[in-house]
Amino acid sequence: MNNPVYLDYAATTPVRPEVLEAMLPYLRAETFGNPSSPHQFGRAARAGLEKARHEVAGAVGANPNQVIFMSGGTEADNLAIIGAVLAAKERGTNACVVVSALEHKAVLAAAHHVVLLGAEEIILPVDADGLLDLAALSEALTHCPSVVSVMWVNNEVGVIQPIPAIAERCCDAGATLHIDAVQAFGKVPISLEELPCTLLTLSGHKIGAPKGIGALIVRDRKAIDAIIHGGGQQYGLRPGTENVAGAVALGKASVLAAAEQATEAKRLSDLRTRLLDGIRAALPDVHVHGAGAPQAPHILNLGIPQTDSEAMLMHLDLGGVAASSGSACNTGSVEPSHVLTAMGVPRELALCSIRFSLGHGTTADDIDRVIHTLPGVVAKVRQLGVVLGRV
Ligand SMILES: Cc1ncc(COP(=O)(O)O)c(C=O)c1O
Repeated sequence: MNNPVYLDYAATTPVRPEVLEAMLPYLRAETFGNPSSPHQFGRAARAGLEKARHEVAGAVGANPNQVIFMSGGTEADNLAIIGAVLAAKERGTNACVVVSALEHKAVLAAAHHVVLLGAEEIILPVDADGLLDLAALSEALTHCPSVVSVMWVNNEVGVIQPIPAIAERCCDAGATLHIDAVQAFGKVPISLEELPCTLLTLSGHKIGAPKGIGALIVRDRKAIDAIIHGGGQQYGLRPGTENVAGAVALGKASVLAAAEQATEAKRLSDLRTRLLDGIRAALPDVHVHGAGAPQAPHILNLGIPQTDSEAMLMHLDLGGVAASSGSACNTGSVEPSHVLTAMGVPRELALCSIRFSLGHGTTADDIDRVIHTLPGVVAKVRQLGVVLGRV
């Protein structure tokens, strides 16, 4: 019996052995101190934490004192948006929070929440390939002092946004730009030296660190206020005793992600092409979501007509392939993905869409097994649909 094939790396990744090795001393009695304690136990933990801060900073071209460790991407996105609105209020101005319609729920929900604080929420449209409408962004920026939040790489369809053009517009308008780089890190080159953005979100578990650690890069501390309150750790922006082992893991994973980015992007892109070509040869009617836009090397989202995402995923799982759907189940009824809906994908096709996401452990053999398994699964689901009168 073969091991199952895991093609859900955009959901999470296994911890890399080098990362586990780096963090283990901070979980054992070796280096367990509180990094705020002045004695030698605390100093040893502090040294690990600060080394990790340097490593994360170095991987994205930031300064170490701009790295604020967080519990993950969701918390970082929330601090960026809610914190920016609070800072604007403190300055006596109101803020418009400008987001694209295909942001992650962590951003969309935070942008919605700040309406309660008196901020205005503007949701920008995207085109059929998922690219942000730049004219609509420029128009929104004329409206009021703004916080713009845009994801670099979309987690469902892999579309890469034109970040330099977005940053330039935000810069010209004096807006605070937050970029969610959770899916971009390690997949596209990131250098804040060349990018005028104020805030950048990273998450550890997408790059081989454990779940529960991430970072917000804060290049201008005046741009945000804290959203949780306590001791003065991390400049008061994220108080609480730091997750030292998690930070060390993120540091190590960041170094690896940056060092391997170019070769890994090429390798994954070739595997993605192999997967798509193989699937198309057997199923010529598949639709590649976002195909007209630049796409990340690790995400392939396919609409497979006359199927059903949930049934496909179940049968793929039974066939030893773990993938994911672009749709979320709500109280028993399947709703189409908000990303595909924003791109204008018809509901029927959105509900027939599945996402394959590749990562560090993906091999050509994995890809060939998926190519081999998928047509039978599609045939079974189509047959089932005919029997049930659904397709
Ligand atoms: C683009 C994007 N942003 C934010 C998040 C949330 O990150 P975390 O799971 O670390 O909270 C994810 C996770 O799927 C993501 O893909």
